[in-house]
Amino acid sequence: MKALKNTWYMAGWVHELENENPLGRKIIDIPIVIYRGDDGELAALFDRCPHRFAPLSKGRIKGNNLQCGYHGLTFNCEGSCVDNPEGGHPPKSAYLNSFPIVEKDNIIWIWMGEKEKFDVSLIPDYSIHNDKSLSFLYGHSFVKSNYELITDNLLDLSHTRYIHPGFGGENYEYDHTIEVQEQEIYSKYYVDSSPNSEIGEAMFPTKGQAVDEYNDMRWNLPASLQLEVWFTKPGDKKENGAVNWAAHILTPKTKHETHYFWASGVSKESPLDDKTHLNFLLQAFNEEDKPMIEACYERMSGNEFWDMKPVVLKVDSAAVRARRTLNNAIAHEERSDNS
Ligand code: FES
Ligand SMILES: [Fe+2]
Repeated sequence: MKALKNTWYMAGWVHELENENPLGRKIIDIPIVIYRGDDGELAALFDRCPHRFAPLSKGRIKGNNLQCGYHGLTFNCEGSCVDNPEGGHPPKSAYLNSFPIVEKDNIIWIWMGEKEKFDVSLIPDYSIHNDKSLSFLYGHSFVKSNYELITDNLLDLSHTRYIHPGFGGENYEYDHTIEVQEQEIYSKYYVDSSPNSEIGEAMFPTKGQAVDEYNDMRWNLPASLQLEVWFTKPGDKKENGAVNWAAHILTPKTKHETHYFWASGVSKESPLDDKTHLNFLLQAFNEEDKPMIEACYERMSGNEFWDMKPVVLKVDSAAVRARRTLNNAIAHEERSDNS
């Protein structure tokens, strides 16, 4: 599939590796196996044994190595075959591609491009996950859509009025601004003195009084987003209100399917309990956003977005900017590959 390669993709949450089994995950159409060796280091390898093509993710971790679950060829963290238990030296052709992998802010990041170009300073900031005053819920689901359609959804929150009654619904009357800082885009929605939404009331109860609401969505290449939400009394300072931080990180599985990694954190003092919090998230995403995005993608019938000449509205400014930034980065990478 056409995708940016020299970039960081989220491969999973760090806690997904806690059960000591290798983790198989397809990213931009490439099968990857991730495991943690006895030395505590993460490794990421191409998830297909060069012998009979078994997924290594069905194998087992042995020390710092990974053993194929079919006939036992064993590979080190760099992908070299270091043991053939059936006898004889492993042939030189028995190797797997390896990928740079980093864990940061409870996220496993993988670099799918040229190894010599990997740069940890390009990992987007999710250090809020380390804030001990907050309590986070984490999840992973799949969307049957190209990832850019989901980016559009997250940067254009005007849809709240139509499909998210619990997040304000018809009261979601906003001022929208966008800010661009190099390759980082902010899409900011401000709702001035409006009836509190259901989730607002659960996080910042006002018993019928109006609130101001700030929804600041940040976008980083290729599709890593973070939403910062504040509820305050009208005109009051943010620090007197209630905050919600939400990661929305999209990793293309294939051209037609996307890993959607999400996290949502509120103050440990928040009246919002975990069960209610989770219900709000699942209702909004699984029942409201996801079916609409999948239905839109189905209607696109495999055609390219711009080829379909979509109507562009004022509120699409951040989404269009993100699409252009990503397309330019992909085109630049393709030009460098061909030169
Ligand atoms: S398929 Fe892996 S060792 Fe045979
Ligand atoms: Fe939504």
